[in-house]
Amino acid sequence: MRLSPRLTAIAGMVRQGSRVADIGTDHAYIPVFLIETNKAQRAVASDINIGPLSKAREVIRQRRLEERIDTRLGNGLDVIESGEVDTVILAGMGGMLIRDILKAGQRVLEGVERLVLQPMNAQEIVREWLVHNGYAIVDEDLAREGDKIYQIIAAQPGSQQIDDPFYFEIGKLLIEKKHPLLPHLLNKKLKEYNSIITGLQGATKAGTARRLEEYKLKRGRLQGVMEQCGRKHT
Ligand SMILES: C[S@@+](CC[C@H](N)C(=O)[O-])C[C@H]1O[C@@H](n2cnc3c(N)ncnc32)[C@H](O)[C@@H]1O
Repeated sequence: MRLSPRLTAIAGMVRQGSRVADIGTDHAYIPVFLIETNKAQRAVASDINIGPLSKAREVIRQRRLEERIDTRLGNGLDVIESGEVDTVILAGMGGMLIRDILKAGQRVLEGVERLVLQPMNAQEIVREWLVHNGYAIVDEDLAREGDKIYQIIAAQPGSQQIDDPFYFEIGKLLIEKKHPLLPHLLNKKLKEYNSIITGLQGATKAGTARRLEEYKLKRGRLQGVMEQCGRKHT
């Protein structure tokens, strides 16, 4: 099975020989790829909605992988037994939903060695939750599809201190590894902050001045990283 750049980057974060749960699997492309390439020994593909799960079952049936991929209907990590998997993938969902699923799934997470997360938004909420809840961010990647840039985060149990909240917005590892797609991500964030700043400049509500200052500071930090990447900002 050929995967899109986003799904390839997610699969790339999974370690050889893993027992994987893909929560919110939809089409089951990730577990199918992981099993077909022998990266995973076994997989559970789950979804909260019957429509996507039926799609997943059909793809798994067509690839004759029913013996190696279990499908389950249910909410978040509720469908996983303690100790059943060592890797949990949560991809293509909002950052707050990913955080809430992790928060509610402590029983399962006790035996899990690796989280592979791809939040569609609110990535800072996910990074912050991880480092404040006994995880270390061990790898980060970016994938581009058309105009979109996706952020993929791998974490494992451990301690990590991130004192500077800017690194919740932009993963420190992305900066350290000078990821080739980082300038694209920074540009997108700069545009987002510029439009927030423009909006706040016209507002008169209490607290606006503080938010405006906050966003100006964040914009300055982004511009600094952009310069570090050898790029001019707009
Ligand atoms: C946009 S799809 C992403 C599919 C796939 N993971 C990917 O990255 O391409 C999000 C899927 O998450 C499922 N989902 C949403 N909330 C969920 C929850 N609490 N537990 C399990 N699945 C959930 C949805 O039904 C949907 O199929």
